[in-house]
Amino acid sequence: MKKYTIEFCDYKYDYIYSKGPSLIIKDYLSEIDKLIMISDSGVPKEILEIYSSFLMGIRETEIVIFPEGEVNKSLLTVANLCEELIEIGADRRTAIVAVGGGLVGNVAGMVAALLYRGIPLIHIPTTLMAASDSVLSLKQAVNLQHGKNLVGTFYKPSLVYVDSLLLVDQDPRSIRNAIFELVKNALAIIPEDIRVLSNLLNSTNRYSSNQLESLIDYCIKAKSKVMKFDAYEQKDGVVLEYGHTIGHAIELAAEGRLMHGESVAFGMLVAARVSYHLGFLKGEDLITHNKMINLIGYDNKDHPTLSEVENSIKYLKNDNKKGYVSSSQNEIGLVLLERLGEVKKKGSSFITNVSLELIVDEMIKIIKQEEVLI
Ligand SMILES: NC(=O)c1ccc[n+]([C@@H]2O[C@H](COP(=O)([O-])OP(=O)(O)OC[C@H]3O[C@@H](n4cnc5c(N)ncnc54)[C@H](O)[C@@H]3O)[C@@H](O)[C@H]2O)c1
Repeated sequence: MKKYTIEFCDYKYDYIYSKGPSLIIKDYLSEIDKLIMISDSGVPKEILEIYSSFLMGIRETEIVIFPEGEVNKSLLTVANLCEELIEIGADRRTAIVAVGGGLVGNVAGMVAALLYRGIPLIHIPTTLMAASDSVLSLKQAVNLQHGKNLVGTFYKPSLVYVDSLLLVDQDPRSIRNAIFELVKNALAIIPEDIRVLSNLLNSTNRYSSNQLESLIDYCIKAKSKVMKFDAYEQKDGVVLEYGHTIGHAIELAAEGRLMHGESVAFGMLVAARVSYHLGFLKGEDLITHNKMINLIGYDNKDHPTLSEVENSIKYLKNDNKKGYVSSSQNEIGLVLLERLGEVKKKGSSFITNVSLELIVDEMIKIIKQEEVLI
């Protein structure tokens, strides 16, 4: 068992990496009489059984399951859950235990933040994406028709408990999905670790529990580096959105065909080419982007289709970073790198306005495989 203390400005919480359920969770329940475990319908039954019976053994526990899928990451789901929680007796001595992927973490996080203006939240992430990325953040949000993560808040969990046994058997695509975020961290925040990571990562996307622990270590290192003084991700922390403006738009346009990490990988490839085109990023850094993303098995079949690119435009225009800098109708604010580990800044802003035309042009060139380099 390994315990980290995650520190984002004044917010502090424990992050435990272990094997199987552990009674250490009880240490975080001194003021709690009741647990409500929230999951979605895609979380494997065996995991639900293991954790529901474990939790029932330590406190009175109710189980609430909502339907899986981004379409259900909505205010309606949050409202329905809040009503249901009150029905089943949630009060201020109740803690929510989010058992699931990043989506469950976000929905349950919203419920925990809003119900009675905030009740305790424990994350038990069941995907590597959740364990290595979404729980290392205070951000909780749900989607609107207009776009992804448009309504949300910041909320600190009381505990993150990662059970590596839930992660090692995950299907390689789901593992790779999370590792794209680690690749983002390497390119944008900790380029000094790219060489070591290149030796650790592989295209089969199968890793032992110890290897996953090392990969999570790098995520904690990178995220802590930028969020230590920017818990609300408005300055240095904005770098975590690298590849995400395009990634989120593509993810929504692909309607579930592409995973979050795959869409972000494409978003990084586009952002790198845009930055290269504008004369910021050097050719060698563009090549490193391609190498790192390809290293974990990204290839042409992971690209969005041309019609998904077309559909993504309306979402690009509604990105949740809109307004960080003023922009015209045909400009989209992107996080760009001027070199690995270095965001292109204008004054104090971490966002660069880029013409929509250039972004779409680069997306199409990638899909048509018109390489600028190599
Ligand atoms: N800072 C943040 O808050 C942050 C960061 C990254 C991602 N996210 C959000 O997280 C979501 C993506 O998270 P995700 O990739 O975990 O997807 P997900 O939570 O949608 O899970 C994908 C599918 O896998 C199922 N699942 C969960 N655990 C499983 C397991 N152990 N084995 C098999 N299937 C399992 C889920 O039920 C779901 O059907 C997105 O909504 C994204 O916006 C948030």
